[in-house]
Amino acid sequence: MVQGIAFGGDYTPEQWPREVQLADVDLMREAGVNLVSLGIFAWALMEPREGAYEFAWLDEIIDRLHAAGIAVDLATPSAATPAWFAKAYPQSLPVTREGVRIGYGGRQTACPSSPEYRAATVALARELGKRYGRHPAVQLWHVHNEYGAPLGECYCETSVAAFREWLRRTYGDIESLNDAWGTLFWGQRYADWSEIDAPRLGLTVVNPAQRLDFARFTNDEHLACFIVQRDVLHELSPGVPVTTNFMSINCKSMDLWKWAKEVDVVSNDNYLVPEEADNHIRLAMSADMSRSLGGGRPWLLMEHSTGAVNWHPRNLAKRPGELRRNSLAHVARGSDSVLYFQWRASRYGAEKFHSAMIPHAGTDSQIWRDVVGLGGELRGLADVAGTRVESEVAILWDWEAYWALELDWRPSVDVTFLERIDEFYAALWRSHVTVDFAHPAADLSRYKLVVAPSLYLAGDAAAKNLHRYVQAGGHLLVSFFSGIVDEHDAIHNGPHPGALRDTLGLTVEEFHPLPAGGSLPLSAGGHGRIWSERVRLTGATGHATFADGPDAGHPAITRNSLGAGLAWYVATAPDDLRGILATVLDTAGVLRPADLPDALEVVRRGDRVFLLNHGETAVSFQGVTVAAGGVVIL
Ligand code: GLA
Repeated sequence: MVQGIAFGGDYTPEQWPREVQLADVDLMREAGVNLVSLGIFAWALMEPREGAYEFAWLDEIIDRLHAAGIAVDLATPSAATPAWFAKAYPQSLPVTREGVRIGYGGRQTACPSSPEYRAATVALARELGKRYGRHPAVQLWHVHNEYGAPLGECYCETSVAAFREWLRRTYGDIESLNDAWGTLFWGQRYADWSEIDAPRLGLTVVNPAQRLDFARFTNDEHLACFIVQRDVLHELSPGVPVTTNFMSINCKSMDLWKWAKEVDVVSNDNYLVPEEADNHIRLAMSADMSRSLGGGRPWLLMEHSTGAVNWHPRNLAKRPGELRRNSLAHVARGSDSVLYFQWRASRYGAEKFHSAMIPHAGTDSQIWRDVVGLGGELRGLADVAGTRVESEVAILWDWEAYWALELDWRPSVDVTFLERIDEFYAALWRSHVTVDFAHPAADLSRYKLVVAPSLYLAGDAAAKNLHRYVQAGGHLLVSFFSGIVDEHDAIHNGPHPGALRDTLGLTVEEFHPLPAGGSLPLSAGGHGRIWSERVRLTGATGHATFADGPDAGHPAITRNSLGAGLAWYVATAPDDLRGILATVLDTAGVLRPADLPDALEVVRRGDRVFLLNHGETAVSFQGVTVAAGGVVIL
């Protein structure tokens, strides 16, 4: 890959006349661009008719970039099937859960289980690999674009047949499936594989275990599409890493722990929700997840934006200084690149109002001046590339738990996955604690504290892992509605929380979710929101109680000594989560800078310390002043 921090973005020269293409290369050099992503949606140009490949245009562009010393991240364009493909293979067009067959003319319009689609993508990847696999400009392969969104599940007949095969491989015999899915309920018992359908829209709730398996199947089908292309590229382009751009915390449909094992380097796309207060915290979360997916290794920020995006109701521009601050925030948290969607703003098509490194206004613009300034600054940060960020605290994140928690008919619609994680992440961010994400069954031994916000689904492996972690001296903080079901969404035997009863030293007799907007006072001060429940101690000790409501006088926060460690439990959503976390962090021995304003982000990466001031006033830290909105790297 490129030396130092990679800088550049998605480049679509095919949309521009030759004189613009030539000027672009000069401008890239001016800005210090050293890596661009090419060809992401260019299938119809690479293969205008089935089996007829045209690469002369791409040869010229890649050679020109190479001559200018700019490396190429070459894409396989499987996210944009051409019109001829949809005409030739109309059965490949995906079908939604509602039964609507979608049309072409957008992107991601092929069913991942379609054999014709897979064969065509592999054939094209093979042509690209043969032609460019050893081209010195090609330093990275970019398979597809954002697997999992907008296309996740497909309900076409090909998908249903593939789902039956997936189930047969997973369960072996139909009785095992019946047991796992709990089909005695509502008389759903299956006598034969051929009776099983996708979990289509019903008039009432469809079997939750069936829905979970369909989500797993969907993940595996998309992943298989990636793997077949990756293998061809490995064969024809030895030594050149292959990636696909993730959307880390923003993609519900793909189990990225599984994906991360298959890519050579994790890459991620991140876009802010412009109207969200403190949206830099979500940015940090996305970056921390990217680093965690790669096991702590540096990762690549494949896309973010210089300014506004075009797909929100109101697409607010970034404020002065925000372009630089956002980009450096990703670098602080482990990215070895600062790449944007996109190099030059399009004149036509669906994304013409999306910002770019060169906006419609051209180079006499603030965005361009900021881009050039940042490019220069990144050259001075070359030593940061390859270095690591260490964390003492992990938050558990399991995509299967995400899917399960948000199925229908739960005790309260107010318990949603991302929001529960957000609250803990934000409180830790504001406490200046750098966080990793971890799968509940992963090795957690390096963390002083592990946090499990509403980990509703927890199988035996996760439960045993967490128990061992605490016994060996770890500190665990679990919040309500955790450890309730197994991987088939079946309640663990006995009282809640079945998977975590012994670890937490308690049982839960009854859930008492609160009405919308409700809250209850806690004996320790502050209030609990969303949830209350009747906790019965079986070994743990009470730390705070509910001071009102159906569980008044009963425990709201507990702690259980187990082996050499400690397991905390919080039976509600406290408004003063930070205060509670301060106690838990202190007990676990997690050190953090004291007396800093919330808005100052402090992250250590390798030998450097990044100070990012998201606030409205200047801040001093160890004799250094960080201007409002500014960044200082020590
Ligand atoms: C995604 C896609 C890009 C582009 C951007 C716009 O991340 O990967 O192709 O559509 O969104 O924000």
